[in-house]
Amino acid sequence: MLPVIGEIRPWTDPTVLQLNRLAMHVPMAGFDRRSLDGRWSLELFDSPDAVPAEALEGERPRAATVEVPGNWTIQDLSSPSGEAFVDTPHYTNIQMPFGGPPPRLPERNPTGVYRRPFTVPAGWMQRRAVLHVAGAESVHAVYVNGRFVGYGTDSRLPSEYDVGPFLVPDRNELVIVVVRYSAHSYIEDQDQWWMAGLHRSVWIESRPDVHLADLPVATSFDPLTADGTVDATAMVDFGGAPAPGWSVRATLRNPAGEQVGATIHQPVPHEHARPHGFTGFEVAARWDVASAEAWSAETPRRYSVTAELVDPSGLVAHVETQHVGIRRVEVRGRQLLVNGRPVWIFGVNRHDHHPDRGKAVTVDDMRADLALMRAHNISAVRTSHYPNDDAFYDLCDELGFYLVDESNIESHAYNRSLCDDPRYRAAWVDRGARMVQRDRNHPSVILWSLGNESGYGTNHDALAGWIRRSDPSRPLHYEDAVRAEGWNGGGLAATDVVCPMYPEIDAIREYGEAGVGGRPLIMCEYSHAMGNSNGSLADYWDAITSTPGLQGGFLWEWKDQSLRQRLPDGRVRLAYGGQFGDTPHDGNFVADGLVSADLEPHPAMREVAWVHRPVTVARARGGLRVENRRSFTGLGDLRARWEVLVDGVVARRGTLPVPDVAPHSSATAPLPDLPDGLGKDRDVHVTVLWETRGDTWFARAGHVVAWDQVQIQVGKARHAGGRPTASPADSLVSPQLNLWRAPTDNDGFKLMPDLTQRLRVGGHALRLWREAGLDRRPPEELVGHRVMAERDEHGTTYRHTVDVPESLADLPRIGVCFRLPARFSELRWYGRGPHANYPDRNSSAMLGVWSAGPDESPYLVPQEFGLRTDCRWFEIIDPADREALRIDAVAPRALHFSATHHTPADLYEAATQSELRRRDGLVVCVDAAHRGLGTASCGPDVLPQYRLAAGRHEFAYRVSARTVCSVDSA
Ligand code: GAL
Ligand code: MG
Repeated sequence: MLPVIGEIRPWTDPTVLQLNRLAMHVPMAGFDRRSLDGRWSLELFDSPDAVPAEALEGERPRAATVEVPGNWTIQDLSSPSGEAFVDTPHYTNIQMPFGGPPPRLPERNPTGVYRRPFTVPAGWMQRRAVLHVAGAESVHAVYVNGRFVGYGTDSRLPSEYDVGPFLVPDRNELVIVVVRYSAHSYIEDQDQWWMAGLHRSVWIESRPDVHLADLPVATSFDPLTADGTVDATAMVDFGGAPAPGWSVRATLRNPAGEQVGATIHQPVPHEHARPHGFTGFEVAARWDVASAEAWSAETPRRYSVTAELVDPSGLVAHVETQHVGIRRVEVRGRQLLVNGRPVWIFGVNRHDHHPDRGKAVTVDDMRADLALMRAHNISAVRTSHYPNDDAFYDLCDELGFYLVDESNIESHAYNRSLCDDPRYRAAWVDRGARMVQRDRNHPSVILWSLGNESGYGTNHDALAGWIRRSDPSRPLHYEDAVRAEGWNGGGLAATDVVCPMYPEIDAIREYGEAGVGGRPLIMCEYSHAMGNSNGSLADYWDAITSTPGLQGGFLWEWKDQSLRQRLPDGRVRLAYGGQFGDTPHDGNFVADGLVSADLEPHPAMREVAWVHRPVTVARARGGLRVENRRSFTGLGDLRARWEVLVDGVVARRGTLPVPDVAPHSSATAPLPDLPDGLGKDRDVHVTVLWETRGDTWFARAGHVVAWDQVQIQVGKARHAGGRPTASPADSLVSPQLNLWRAPTDNDGFKLMPDLTQRLRVGGHALRLWREAGLDRRPPEELVGHRVMAERDEHGTTYRHTVDVPESLADLPRIGVCFRLPARFSELRWYGRGPHANYPDRNSSAMLGVWSAGPDESPYLVPQEFGLRTDCRWFEIIDPADREALRIDAVAPRALHFSATHHTPADLYEAATQSELRRRDGLVVCVDAAHRGLGTASCGPDVLPQYRLAAGRHEFAYRVSARTVCSVDSA
């Protein structure tokens, strides 16, 4: 039973944002603090109205014991009385999990009564005691010793309450009632799991009556002089009547910990209060810093400001230290500048997510995310779609990431109405304003975001106005403002950057080339990573790096949001929407990460690392042109190795002598000497790899951060090692025409046939393929096919002619498939690798001779995987008998291939119906053409140049059997 005030039931009322909540401030660590994290008792009820008064009073047999922080939706809720309340995660994307209109709530609205006892030191009794609830989904009410203390909304920002007046000596009883759905759920309608509970830390701290209540610090930096300024404002809360004789002593320290400038010691004014949500009195301190060490993601140098509150007797009553960065962010012309220089936005969207902990991510989880990001050259994060725990910002300040900090506002299901609904206006402003008040000291935050997918209305402009006045130092970001009003000058009140989602490459290029829009274009979301995806990532970056006004963007999204689920039969799986019995749901649309929920990078991560590489190498007159894409630092931390490959095999290697290359500039390095006497029939390539010289926080020394390959000459590929044998092994191969691939998530939603219709996203290829019968009918019924086999002493050469009718343009692939017995278990190929790659996702895959075992399916929902493009030849090896089956491309001179334990049909069936069937032997597919991947699950489909045209396709390859000499020689 939440506080019912007259007729008002606050959780049902969007205008009630809080009751008795203290004002927001920057995080402070200078108070005596007791953590209340750990085991709590939790009793669940069907709705807030079903909570009896006694539930707030003492231990209850129906209560379960759960972990805080945690989501109760993924914890064991069984109680000593044997009962277990059932409340599971629920996944929806746009639609609400229950019917509207706002602010209507479902009848069943699980409500948890969290309880735990706590004691406080005797010395705390006469002082201010503050309870900190860092995050509760969706709304919560606090009771201490049976008495109502306060109520808070916004599940992604902390709420604080003064519990001092409610404390008793010895044992106190704390109850936090958390309601799963509230009127505020309508503006927390992000594409993620609906969870519930206390998912961030809870603590209690003691504050002296007179204390520092806030310590915002603003900095600036002049790139021309390298001078900086630091402005700190100590806000003093007197608790009661202001008194004379108090002072604030403030110092600034540089990144080495040495004091900079003078200690500033000033009296606290006690006559003229400036209200800040409390009786506040400000002391301002300003330092001019000559030759400042500026903060950037490349140079994350932090200064610190320490403020001491000194009482009239000269004793220090309270000390606070804030880490800050001296830096400047601005939009000037069509560029976003950090410290006066443009920066590339190598970004991802990140949700708080862990497969076992749900929204309750730990600092180690955050650090693991960031380390894996940086190991793939990701240096910017949009906190999609809400403020994260404060610890995340500290890490980003320290390790060097740019952040778009996003307000917890998404009214996706009602995005035309709530943004203009006066009942939600205060919530809009409060959510954004409180985020700014908490996060303003973090140098990593370079843009404030007004939220996501909430339309564009008066409530947005109200929030934008508040932020612009409160923090003029950072530009604003809001996607729907430019969606609604256009990229060229639309939505100026709410956004300083043009930040579209999933735009076509041509559209961003046109924006840049036209030069009409005056703002930089930074995609807030692009290249949807659902399943086997991220086609044309390199095409995006070709456009970005060659068109003024384009600066990069944030990939969608960092991690699959799947949850580990234990099934009744004991099996454990990673689950997506609907697998908890949650309805309505949007299936595996929740699993669209570059990495799995367990942080296994999907193959596309190689392409991500490559398009974001800090240094590029290209063939130029006079040698190799080396371009430094960093904004502030040289390349001194990297070493460049080169390899000369002849027919894919490293023939020579060495270290590239690279002159110092200043940020955003280039230099020429000599082309390595090529081996003498190379005939015109040889392929020759030079690969340059850049690796870290020393250990870094994200990788050991030798970690490869950039690589490029330049072509010197293309010859006729020669045979690999080994002699042709008279073995009959090549007779094992009986190639069957194959036009089918297990559809990727971009080809179509296999699990949600009606979703494509409803969301108006999703590829339509699968629908067309099914209509044509591609998934059922023998391929020979669909296309004209002729094959000729010629045997000679080298093996058998197959020549295929495939005539594709106009009605079947845009096929998945044209090629053949065959199966091999299990003794063939290793692969070796001369083509692109080593990782899986596709025609529109192979820029990161270098040509070479690679060897590997067959890939395992890396995606949550089975689909096509494991292709290697542009192979001159490949071998499938029986290691025991040292025998290889070899396929040489005859025409065209390179083919694509894959070898896995699954047929396309196995994968397709498993997506919708059954367990994935694993074959003993290998299923080998050889393609003359293979459709690109695109990103049509949410965004542009495969570009025309990566699609398969109708008409005649001819290809030929030779199958032979060979003995294997050594896996390294050719
Ligand atoms: C965007 C949205 C994201 C997510 C993504 C698709 O429309 O902002 O939250 O839904 O599409 O995965
Ligand atoms: Mg949405």
